Amino acid sequence: MVDEFFEEQAEQSQIKAEIVTKYFLVWAKIIIASQRKYKRENRVAYIDLFAGPGRYRDGSLSTPIMIIENAIKDPDLCERLIAVFNDKDENNSNSLKQAIGSLPGIAKLRHQPQVYTGEVGEEVVHSFATRKLVPSFLFVDPFGYKGLSLKLVNSVLKDWGCDCVFFFNYNRISMGLTNSVVQSHMEALFGETRAARLRQRFETDYVRPADRENFIIEEMTDALREMGGEYVIPFRFRNAAGTRTTHHLFLFQSTSLASSECAKSCMTTAKRNLASQDSSTARLTLVARAYSPCAARSRTWKNCSLSIARAGP
Ligand SMILES: C[S@@+](CC[C@H](N)C(=O)[O-])C[C@H]1O[C@@H](n2cnc3c(N)ncnc32)[C@H](O)[C@@H]1O
Repeated sequence: MVDEFFEEQAEQSQIKAEIVTKYFLVWAKIIIASQRKYKRENRVAYIDLFAGPGRYRDGSLSTPIMIIENAIKDPDLCERLIAVFNDKDENNSNSLKQAIGSLPGIAKLRHQPQVYTGEVGEEVVHSFATRKLVPSFLFVDPFGYKGLSLKLVNSVLKDWGCDCVFFFNYNRISMGLTNSVVQSHMEALFGETRAARLRQRFETDYVRPADRENFIIEEMTDALREMGGEYVIPFRFRNAAGTRTTHHLFLFQSTSLASSECAKSCMTTAKRNLASQDSSTARLTLVARAYSPCAARSRTWKNCSLSIARAGP
């Protein structure tokens, strides 16, 4: 499955990469404006610990490459961006290094992207948790749930201006909740109490699939909110037939950002974009809730996000 994943960029991966890249750019603009205004720290970080090889074998670009390409085009990011990538597979990190190194204009970045090889676990969490981070945008995108934990997210979100996006493999997590072999992973993800509550609910009664999904997403959203993710926006991905949920992408902003001047400017910019209808970014961050390849089949991504926006709250 891992090998197949990088053969060809599925439409889902493309949408995911687009959302993350756009959201990162909006976030970076807000943070940089605030850094200028308050003469704060002059660096921002993008951290992807499950980065993959950089390019799919069909040549399409993955999220890390899209992030760096956009940074090269933006003079502020050229000066300020610290990009940190990691993958447990050495072939992937080598390939990513090569793909980044061959991007036209890469020398414009004051800080060259760092690419590491290692398995994400307690050590990484400890290393983030025990240092003060510059405003950082964390993207968490493992294949399943291994390495994905509330502690990891919190180790970054604890500091001012830090945001996180993570890709939640709904299928696998839903199955894992009642599998005792992976109980520790579920507890790392939801916390012990929430994982136990979900397990008990699903083991005791029949729960309709739609309700099951709501219970799981609600628990995850609440767990993230408890850690200070003031705005938690789950974005649903459906399978190709449009019949089942496969993933959720959780976007969330920390309280510190939400309560500061820059959050107000974020909301104002987003509302303006929403009103002008000429940028999909605001719609993605504020109102988009679902992507179904089936519903979107004959439309472009932009149109798809527009129709979602109309259907949203
Ligand atoms: C879904 S892919 C990443 C795709 C990439 N984020 C993108 O948007 O193109 C997941 C990657 O995480 C790596 N991975 C999985 N578990 C890991 C772990 N515990 N630590 C580090 N890397 C891991 C895999 O080798 C794989 O390359």
